[in-house]
Amino acid sequence: MLPGGAAVKRPFHRRLWALLVHCRSMNLLAGKRILLGISGGIAAYKSAELVRLLRAAGAEVRVLMTAAATGFVGAQTFQALSGQPVYCDWNDEHDAMGHIELARWADFMLVAPATADTLARLAQGRADDLLAAVCLASEAPLAVAPAMNRGMWQHPATRANVSLLRERGVHVWGPAEGEQACGESGPGRMLEPTELLQALSQSFASGRLAGVEVVVTAGPTREPLDPVRFLSNRSSGKMGYALATAARDAGARVTLVSGPVALEAPEGVERVLVETAQEMLQAVLERMEGCRLFIATAAVADYRPRHPAQEKIKKQADELVLRLEPAPDILATVAARTPRPVCVGFAAETQELERYAHRKRLAKGVEMIAANRVGAGLGFDSDDNELLLVWEGGSRRLARDRKSRLARQLVDEIATRYFPRSGEEKAAGHHAKYSA
Ligand SMILES: Cc1cc2nc3c(=O)[nH]c(=O)nc-3n(C[C@H](O)[C@H](O)[C@H](O)COP(=O)(O)O)c2cc1C
Repeated sequence: MLPGGAAVKRPFHRRLWALLVHCRSMNLLAGKRILLGISGGIAAYKSAELVRLLRAAGAEVRVLMTAAATGFVGAQTFQALSGQPVYCDWNDEHDAMGHIELARWADFMLVAPATADTLARLAQGRADDLLAAVCLASEAPLAVAPAMNRGMWQHPATRANVSLLRERGVHVWGPAEGEQACGESGPGRMLEPTELLQALSQSFASGRLAGVEVVVTAGPTREPLDPVRFLSNRSSGKMGYALATAARDAGARVTLVSGPVALEAPEGVERVLVETAQEMLQAVLERMEGCRLFIATAAVADYRPRHPAQEKIKKQADELVLRLEPAPDILATVAARTPRPVCVGFAAETQELERYAHRKRLAKGVEMIAANRVGAGLGFDSDDNELLLVWEGGSRRLARDRKSRLARQLVDEIATRYFPRSGEEKAAGHHAKYSA
């Protein structure tokens, strides 16, 4: 609601899309048993809404709270919303469900919010409270939705705990960036209940990229010349946004790292907004843990001003000489990491598409390049495109079509080659060395 009480009306297509996402969640979550662990952070109040959404989607929900969590939201709230007893302590094993039975009951376990303390205890494999013990005992997939002050999230101890959990196959959903309850701003906000609902339903999806963590870059970068001017390019971000949407529809968990564009974030995709190539690189590297597919569609600046002026450059003589230096190469940096995700890059060329595409694939050391011709109504800012996909020993031309349809074909090709379902490996000529 607006301050005056008027409801904010979303455009029809957004409301329709939200409804479709909701219906899809309902299908995927109907009858699923979700064990929701709540630890002691301010964001615990958001979990009440999550329980409501899960029930509305047809899931059975049982709630388990740490002692600290009960200081933030009363167990009765969750009892009323879940329609089930809430488990707070070893002694509260009503319903004759002990911690082992609870662990067995769950199809999926989510800890939201996950405090720094709870993450540390889970990383250590402790069993000193009911929530930690159930996480340890359960064989169900486990996800955590961290929520904490940005300093706590960025502390090396938390980073190490999160890395360890990821290595053990725990899904880490979020955190998002933004205003925090403590008044600071930065990474550490728990994802919104609708985003967690979407992530949970995707975990039960059987799409071709089900459960795969994907990072997509999109749009242009802006390299400052002075406080009011920048160097940029004509990229609209449409191809990257279409790919993020197609990967989401294939069941992937998608993070979209986007330069400045005039597009809305696709529903169910986590978007991170950046400006410069350096910011994009940093945002991408921060999201590499657990990432199995990296699709670089962003038109990242090749060069940036070597010494951006601190003050606005004044009109002076007849000539102004700008000194440029290479901007970071995001695709090559990701491709050089060990371990690394499957890497797919984009190349925009005005001539000799195939030759440049093969050359770029080798130079960057990536699995696939999707090359497109730019200019003459194609490429930047157009709704249509045509692509030439090249990989080691092969290529495929995708005829001119809407970017949304091209994106689905490209995601299908990537899924077949690098994330094959059993029996598909041979057909795709999949190379094990590329596995993430
Ligand atoms: C008002 C208040 C808010 C807090 N918010 C958070 C938070 O958002 N994230 C966090 O990790 N810890 C937060 N803490 C600290 C945790 O409550 C504390 O570390 C506690 O031991 C967590 O226990 P648990 O993980 O077993 O629930 C907060 C503490 C207080 C008093």
